[in-house]
Amino acid sequence: MPINTLIAPKIKTELPGPNATRVLEGDKKFVSPSYTRSYPMVAKHGRGIVVTDVDGNEFFDFSAGIAVVSTGHCHPDVVAAIQKQAGELIHMSGTDFYYESMVTLAERLSKIAPMPGSHKIYYGNSGTEAIECALKLSRYHTKRQNIIAFYGAFHGRTMGALSLTASKPQQKRRFAPLVPGVTHVPYPDVYRNAGTQDAEAYAIGCARFIEDKLFKTTLPPEEVAAIFVEPIQGEGGYVIGPTVFMQELRRICDRHGILLVVDEVQSGVGRTGKWWAIEHTGVQPDIVCAAKGIASGMPLGATISRAEIMDWAPGSHASTFGGNPVCIAAAMATLDVIEREGLLHNAGEVGHHMLKRMSEWPSKHKLVGDVRGRGLMIGVEIVKDKKTKEHAAAERDRIVQNAFERGTLFLGAGPSTIRIVPPLVVTKDEADIAMDALEESISMVEKSA
Ligand SMILES: Cc1ncc(COP(=O)(O)O)c(C=O)c1O
Repeated sequence: MPINTLIAPKIKTELPGPNATRVLEGDKKFVSPSYTRSYPMVAKHGRGIVVTDVDGNEFFDFSAGIAVVSTGHCHPDVVAAIQKQAGELIHMSGTDFYYESMVTLAERLSKIAPMPGSHKIYYGNSGTEAIECALKLSRYHTKRQNIIAFYGAFHGRTMGALSLTASKPQQKRRFAPLVPGVTHVPYPDVYRNAGTQDAEAYAIGCARFIEDKLFKTTLPPEEVAAIFVEPIQGEGGYVIGPTVFMQELRRICDRHGILLVVDEVQSGVGRTGKWWAIEHTGVQPDIVCAAKGIASGMPLGATISRAEIMDWAPGSHASTFGGNPVCIAAAMATLDVIEREGLLHNAGEVGHHMLKRMSEWPSKHKLVGDVRGRGLMIGVEIVKDKKTKEHAAAERDRIVQNAFERGTLFLGAGPSTIRIVPPLVVTKDEADIAMDALEESISMVEKSA
């Protein structure tokens, strides 16, 4: 029997099954309709890359709870660390009291930070709070008001982070006025916008727009506190910022005394095969925002700053729950597992294996326009037509639905991209099964198109 049949996920009922249907009815009645559920997956328990639903159906989770469960679902070491800490001290509030693990994790994060020297770390509970901290800190430290961010960016949904976000209009609709002083500029989407230009020249051009146009027309550079950038745009559609683009941003920041803030909430903590996606470019940021994968599913955000930048006075910024001891214990265990199990290496290897196979898809499949990624952060862009590159959102959604019915969980990103972000523990065999399911799902939609 081929290995794939032995380890493949098992679907036992029609989807959604009877128990799932009951939960969906309750959800409709009692839960905020603002959540964007792609398909009726009602999770009951998870182990490694497998999630079992309330009807006993098994799925391979190639979404990792939106790139969060880096060590896999319920890694035994992470569970043990959470249980131990919960028995000792659940909460004390680092806002007003001290506990040792806040220091220990900060030291650990300082060691893996993508910029040399000493660092200071602020703890929050989420990605948006990590950004909110970086936004306030940038203004505080530089005493400047304005921020530059990019079209396609997603930095979160609290008012400050939302002001930087420029991913989908629904995220902003009817929430204005937002935080003033934010200017959005183009992010280099090489696949979509480089046209006949050389890709590097196009990417450098996107960065130079800031200096050549913005600073010469509407925005005095000495009034800009920070540039916020995702090294790989996540919610924007898994668009990779080219190295020359990041280098050019660094040069502009250095020249004008602007802070370079990298949002690694989705791309960080090993997802791309290095601790931080920015390391693939060699560029050193001033501030790094992390969350999602840092604590394998427990809510924790971290804003890692060059030490001299975090110069704000007591009372300037804090959060009651930020850096909760149980979340910190989960983060310490997560970093231990990533190191001990060689997950940076695994993310690079399995990611390479997947990209190798999937890079043939644009020439094999009429709906696949582009496949791109780093490590285990991979996007497959679905288009109606390879020449016009018209987004095929409905087709993308049907592909993701088909894959779900075949026992494999993917999520969309951006207008028409399928995001592939399995836990970093995934094996090549498991990846093969997921790619089989995805490719079959693509073929099915192609046949019916
Ligand atoms: C790059 C990036 N920044 C910030 C956020 C916001 O994180 P959270 O949903 O934890 O607030 C996200 C969430 O998807 C993200 O992908």
